[in-house]
Amino acid sequence: MEIISNPTQVEIKKAAQALKEGHLVAFPTETVYGLGADANNEVAIRRIYEVKGRPNNHPLIVHIASVSDLDKWTVKVPDYAKNLASAFWPGPMTLILARSKLANNFITGWQDNVGIRVPSHPIAQELLMEFQKIGGNGIAAPSANRFGAVSPTTVDAVQDELEHFLIKSDLVLNGGSCDIGLESTIINCTGDSPTILRSGAITKKMIEIFCDLEIEVQNKGTNIKTSGMLRSHYSPKTKVVLDSIASVGDGLVALAEIPTPSGCIRLLSPKTIEEFARHFYGALRLGDKKNLKKIVIILPPGEGLAEAIRDRSIKASARK
Ligand code: TXA
Ligand code: MG
Repeated sequence: MEIISNPTQVEIKKAAQALKEGHLVAFPTETVYGLGADANNEVAIRRIYEVKGRPNNHPLIVHIASVSDLDKWTVKVPDYAKNLASAFWPGPMTLILARSKLANNFITGWQDNVGIRVPSHPIAQELLMEFQKIGGNGIAAPSANRFGAVSPTTVDAVQDELEHFLIKSDLVLNGGSCDIGLESTIINCTGDSPTILRSGAITKKMIEIFCDLEIEVQNKGTNIKTSGMLRSHYSPKTKVVLDSIASVGDGLVALAEIPTPSGCIRLLSPKTIEEFARHFYGALRLGDKKNLKKIVIILPPGEGLAEAIRDRSIKASARK
């Protein structure tokens, strides 16, 4: 794989061309790094599943350049979903909608709906625009990690996860650290009202205020196949324990106001909830790198992004 740092427009064009030719391109988004392929190329999509080691009935999110491309991929978009799209795209939100013929089974895991997102990261945006200029419809991109592992928020993390699985002709675009650090909010828009399937930076409250909508959070137990809804997911190799007292040699992930017991290894000490989210996965990876026996996470209280951190923490701590 070739890593391109701070890609120029010419290099992004080259990456779009590589996608069109069926290669994989990992790229930064505002949430986490994605592993991209042409969403209409079955052979390339099959490689995503192989590289990630992910079961092929787990659907992929299709990334598109702008809201105006939504109709290509979907049918019967409810008004509330149109409102969500215009309020929060480009941004960290994925909408699950009834699919058009363009969304093949190899993308949707044989479901009748498709996940769509318009990312706001400038490199992701430019890549999508260039891809569109050469006839592409959308870029399928799961998080650029092995199945069940922690999502990468830096290029080093992408490399740690996938360097043994990507091949020479695949590309990785380096755009530095991801701003948000947690995956997009996933909203199921296939019913009469929206439900949150995965919490993220677009919070329940934001949706309720902006769209004047009641929204239900349904993180568990639905017939929609969302791999992030597996009990154990987003896990480092190190054992994760929640809200317990860290002992000598344990790693600790907690808000700055929480002191470090003596002999513990502080992995993260954020002053704000945004900072917590941004560096959370990096802290879990650091725990792995240091070969710790245990990582203790003290769950942050409150609504909004804190809910998403608690959700990922609970999944990281579930036994595999
Ligand atoms: O922030 C994000 O969403 C990142 C960046 C790269 O965009 N992507 C990401 O993709 O997190 P992934 O595949 O790692 O997680 C997406 C989740 C998976 O659990 C998948 O099963 C679910 O979304 N998903 C995708 N399409 C779906 C669909 N049609 N119905 C239900 N769940 C879907
Ligand atoms: Mg993922």
